[in-house]
Amino acid sequence: MVQKSQFVGQLKDKDGVQAPFLVKFSQVGMGKNGKPFLNLVLMDNSGELEARVWENTAKYAGQVVRDVVVMVQGKVQSYQGRLQLVVAEMQILREDDITWSDYLQKSKVDPEALHGQLLSQIASMQDPFYRALAESVLKDDAEIVGLLKRAPAAKTVHHAYPGGLIEHIVSITRVLDFLAGHYGSAVDRDLLFLGGFFHDIAKIWELSFEKTTDYTTQGKLVGHLVMGAELVERKVRELDAREGRLAAPFPEYKKLLVKHLILAHHGKLEYGSPVMPQTLEALIVHYIDDLDSKVNQIGGFIAQDISPGDWTALNKHHNRFFYKGES
Ligand SMILES: [Fe+2]
Ligand SMILES: [Fe+2]
Repeated sequence: MVQKSQFVGQLKDKDGVQAPFLVKFSQVGMGKNGKPFLNLVLMDNSGELEARVWENTAKYAGQVVRDVVVMVQGKVQSYQGRLQLVVAEMQILREDDITWSDYLQKSKVDPEALHGQLLSQIASMQDPFYRALAESVLKDDAEIVGLLKRAPAAKTVHHAYPGGLIEHIVSITRVLDFLAGHYGSAVDRDLLFLGGFFHDIAKIWELSFEKTTDYTTQGKLVGHLVMGAELVERKVRELDAREGRLAAPFPEYKKLLVKHLILAHHGKLEYGSPVMPQTLEALIVHYIDDLDSKVNQIGGFIAQDISPGDWTALNKHHNRFFYKGES
């Protein structure tokens, strides 16, 4: 076993580094002088750090790839207000030298407890067709439930840690439950719930998250909106085929309304939705999804900011500084 004594979270400017890290991202770039360099993101269970390799790029490029653990020798530098590791030498570690818990992000949530909350949300649904559809995916399908308890909700942006997807789903559905009470008969509570449950469910196949998180080929070529709509199609067909499961065939218009919630949840065509929200429920799911992801993302950004003073560093994603309050 290789002992790990230096962790990303403790590194400071000008520190010498001799420690193993998990490779999250690896790409060859071209320097201004025309020389290739290696651009890496290294991680361990305490955080992430960008790294550059200026020498022997060709030697490392094919080996130092995503999901390997490398012993790194180098030095920490401050570059444009952020820490960066300049690597002098690297060596790939063998699988049996690695204690994975040193490298993998810990879940910030309790997926078992969240799944329990999800099941009680489902149990409170009124419409037998909608409830059966929710159960067929989130209760009876062991593969889906297993993946859901480990999946992050995104590669980097929001809820990007194990269990992040189920946290996002339960959080949204709680807000939708409140709004269902608030708007009363103008909206269908069961449909709102299905929007919360299913809008991002296909991220369990869109992303691979064994060690680090990345998009799968299926995720890149099809994406979680269309894959989610396909899942609904498949589950409705299975429910209809199971003798005695439903009192009547699953109504076509209800299936369309559920698919619409998934396909419209990004809100705009330029954000990847093939259709814009055209029901009240789809509109509400879109806004609450957007709100929940932003609160998680910006909250995390503010919590991790180390800039001195009352304001955060520039958040490039939102193109603004955030106010941390008087220090
Ligand atoms: Fe989404
Ligand atoms: Fe979402």
